[in-house]
Amino acid sequence: MNVAIITGASSGLGIEYLKQVSTKYSDLDEIWLVARRLDRLTELANGIAGVKCVPVALDLEKDESYIELENRLKSSDASVRLLINNAGFGKLADVIDADVSSQTSMVDLNCKGLTGVAAVCLKHMRAGSAILNVASIASFAPNTRLTVYSSTKAYVLSFTKGLHQELKGRGIKCMCVCPGPMRTEFLEVANIAKGSSKTFDTLPYCDASEVAEKSLKALEKGRCVYTNKLFYKFYRLVAKLLPHSIVMKMSKA
Ligand SMILES: NC(=O)c1ccc[n+]([C@@H]2O[C@H](COP(=O)([O-])OP(=O)(O)OC[C@H]3O[C@@H](n4cnc5c(N)ncnc54)[C@H](OP(=O)(O)O)[C@@H]3O)[C@@H](O)[C@H]2O)c1
Repeated sequence: MNVAIITGASSGLGIEYLKQVSTKYSDLDEIWLVARRLDRLTELANGIAGVKCVPVALDLEKDESYIELENRLKSSDASVRLLINNAGFGKLADVIDADVSSQTSMVDLNCKGLTGVAAVCLKHMRAGSAILNVASIASFAPNTRLTVYSSTKAYVLSFTKGLHQELKGRGIKCMCVCPGPMRTEFLEVANIAKGSSKTFDTLPYCDASEVAEKSLKALEKGRCVYTNKLFYKFYRLVAKLLPHSIVMKMSKA
């Protein structure tokens, strides 16, 4: 049985990936929708025609979730054709002012969760399969007031580059997408209200549906990193060329 797995499928970019995958991947038997809010996943699954969608309620900060995912894959003898590792969140605050658990939770979900899900799924992938990890433009250089978040996304970028290389000889694609800001629940979860961050108030926003569509095309082409919008492609170049002590003055959240 061929499956696609989308984490963070209950909202925002995850829903856009679900729309794309359900219409563009004809060889799938099932799409597994992973997030914590089962009610939302069930409603979404019921609204998708043409391919069976299976809600899978898991908290990806927890180690037992990776064991449960592994057990489900084994018991259904599933081959993972596509993994979209999209679940993630940020919190806007200086580390010194933030509560400790909000900071460590970001590492648990954005780094440990993404790694755990990829490691489990890889055991059920074969040539022709693909992994898409969702990072952020925050991965290019540290963003103060989003220091932990940007560090977790730098991990996702580095992890993807390594995995892309490791998997080349096995015919499995691996790419990370680095979107700029998108108008999703992310902003509310991160406490980014209008006026709370000059950067978020002035930066150009990306359209989540376009990010999903274009990043899947880039994945199929075998790219390793994909950034949407010329403005952010340029920022990526600047962050490569200039010392991060200078870049951080521009990229403060
Ligand atoms: N929006 C932006 O400005 C932006 C910019 C660059 C990158 N990104 C990245 O894009 C990805 C998607 O974010 P989004 O903008 O679509 O935000 P979103 O609307 O808040 O979606 C986040 C998703 O992650 C899931 N999630 C959160 N905690 C989880 C946990 N412990 N276990 C399992 N699932 C969990 C949420 O579902 P439940 O709450 O139901 O668990 C939700 O489906 C994230 O990795 C984010 O870092 C976002």
